[in-house]
Amino acid sequence: MQLDKEISIGRLGKADFSAAAKFFRKTLKIPSYHSGEIKDDIKSYSARNLSKSVKNRNLIFLAAKNDGEIIGLIFSSTYKGTGWIDWVVVEPGYRRRGIAKRLIKEAERIMRNNTTRIWADTATGNYGAVKMLDGLGYRKIAVLGHYYNNDKIIWEKIL
Ligand SMILES: CC(C)(COP(=O)(O)OP(=O)(O)OC[C@H]1O[C@@H](n2cnc3c(N)ncnc32)[C@H](O)[C@@H]1OP(=O)(O)O)[C@@H](O)C(=O)NCCC(=O)NCCS
Repeated sequence: MQLDKEISIGRLGKADFSAAAKFFRKTLKIPSYHSGEIKDDIKSYSARNLSKSVKNRNLIFLAAKNDGEIIGLIFSSTYKGTGWIDWVVVEPGYRRRGIAKRLIKEAERIMRNNTTRIWADTATGNYGAVKMLDGLGYRKIAVLGHYYNNDKIIWEKIL
């Protein structure tokens, strides 16, 4: 499938926090994740918490927008030379068009300034995300058992 060239990718700004939190809440209905984890993560990325992120340059929160509307998000960060991808989510109607790939590649580009490796996690049953990270050059380095009643794969990419 062709990439949507008209879709822009950029940092979340003040005007986006409330729409981003709403988008995240709405899109985060994923059967392979435990509802407790989803609840905690929705709380972590509330509009209020997102607004606190704006001054912290170690937090790389990016949005994909189509005509000003958020259609994808990545929440990632760097800490002491290691990057972490916490969540990548794309509006269901826009999936399989390369948007998550673009979000991840842009976060990687920013992380390269102060990071030599990136870690990410997925539930073992999240087939699409597993394929996506594998295709982007991430390799499995561990499996954590029973994390929120689930198994999680930990992924690493050396930049
Ligand atoms: C996982 C997710 C972010 C992928 O977003 P997307 O924009 O559709 O992904 P892309 O189009 O960039 O896909 C890149 C590659 O990932 C793989 N992939 C993505 N979704 C897939 C699916 N459902 N089944 C199989 N492979 C999939 C494919 O290899 C794809 O390349 P291709 O389309 O050329 O075959 C999206 O499905 C989503 O938001 N899921 C819910 C949230 C989530 O699970 N996030 C991941 C955990 S952090």
